[in-house]
Amino acid sequence: MNNLSGRTIGLLVTGSIAAYKSAELCRELKRRGADVYVAMTPSATEFISPLTFQTLSGHPVTTKLFDEASEAEIGHIAFADRCDLLLVAPATADTIAKAAAGFAENAVLAILLASTKPVLFAPAMNVNMWNHPATQKNLVTLRERGAAVVDPANGELACGWVGEGRLADLSAIVAHVEQLLTAFPSHGDLVGRRVIVTAGPTEEPIDPIRFISNRSSGRMGYAIAKAAVARGAEVTLISGPVALPPLPDVRMVFIRTAAELQDTLRSELERPTNENSKDILFMAAAVGDFSLATTSGAKVKAKKGGEISLTLQVNDDILAAIGRDRARLRKQRGSDFQIVGFCAETSSGDALQEEAVRKLNSKQCDFIVANQVTNDPTSAMGGEMSEVWLIGGDGFVKHLSRSGKDVIAGQLIDEVTSISTSRKPRLLSAVK
Ligand code: CTP
Repeated sequence: MNNLSGRTIGLLVTGSIAAYKSAELCRELKRRGADVYVAMTPSATEFISPLTFQTLSGHPVTTKLFDEASEAEIGHIAFADRCDLLLVAPATADTIAKAAAGFAENAVLAILLASTKPVLFAPAMNVNMWNHPATQKNLVTLRERGAAVVDPANGELACGWVGEGRLADLSAIVAHVEQLLTAFPSHGDLVGRRVIVTAGPTEEPIDPIRFISNRSSGRMGYAIAKAAVARGAEVTLISGPVALPPLPDVRMVFIRTAAELQDTLRSELERPTNENSKDILFMAAAVGDFSLATTSGAKVKAKKGGEISLTLQVNDDILAAIGRDRARLRKQRGSDFQIVGFCAETSSGDALQEEAVRKLNSKQCDFIVANQVTNDPTSAMGGEMSEVWLIGGDGFVKHLSRSGKDVIAGQLIDEVTSISTSRKPRLLSAVK
């Protein structure tokens, strides 16, 4: 298999007994066609010799932050820039903590800090260190910044304990690398295209300090914007209030209410483009369906033992309005654009797909991305993973199995821009 041919992977080895397994990992990545560059922390070199990796990778190994020879030839910035993906395997609790905090005291940490590419951590440590709230919190921080993690496996650990902490199976790590690289092709296939993404919840004010909102984290929209910019698109991200950091190289516009989102999106869609632009709108925002008929200018007082009634009005359906206005927008922009709507339903299976098809038609989208949502924090709304069905107006249906949102984002862009060769349309009777 040569799934990784033409790709450059930075294998970052840190000081764990599992470091010897990285030698096999390096061979496996090479076997699949990748060019592998290795960097090691000082403690990793206590477990395995840099010479082993130099022989296996065919490149000098970076071990020091300030090594005159390697700084001249490689350097941590050049190392970070040349790699399509960084794989930290094994990742110790110490490196995870320092990477989360942004330290750059050794070559591995400096490379991580200097990189804008996808990063995959494959942790290996004692079960108690793995379960420690500090480690888990650091992993949440890294994930929120877009890093992926292959959870360790359960079993006997070198320290004598039994539990979670063994470096994940090499095949699982390699599969994850392949998935992430599919999400981030090296070629700039979206150069010259404008991608507009809406993300996150909206907030509808009740009074100066209270609002109605929803559980959307914005992760799906941010992942799409990140993947699109990595593929060369000019990206505008219209974001509701989320806890995610702004994305580099993306035009960020922050909104709060559904009405602000509607105004911003409309002016964005009205901006003239060149006629071959083939732009795409990903409407991933969880737009609030209701807003207060009247908003109080002063804090609403709680009457002890009493009741308060709020009168809600239904907001405009922004996507449906864009669908209706498409001909005029096309004229004003000077080019057409694809519309990808999203559909969040608490139902599943056929009911979910049928409702998605109904929204696809009523909102006049080219595609709709259907996902099931629940109040569970690991569900697609608010969580880090998602499982979706992409449904096209031409009867196309594709199931994208449960994966990290970065992976789903890349697959969605592949399908929408039709570069996927695995596309096998099947007719869903309800689409017709
Ligand atoms: N949407 C929109 N304007 C709204 C509500 C939703 O543009 N006022 C968009 C969303 O961004 C999404 C799509 O419409 O791309 C479907 O949103 P969803 O919440 O699934 O459905 P709704 O249209 O709100 O219908 P319902 O709440 O009844 O399921």
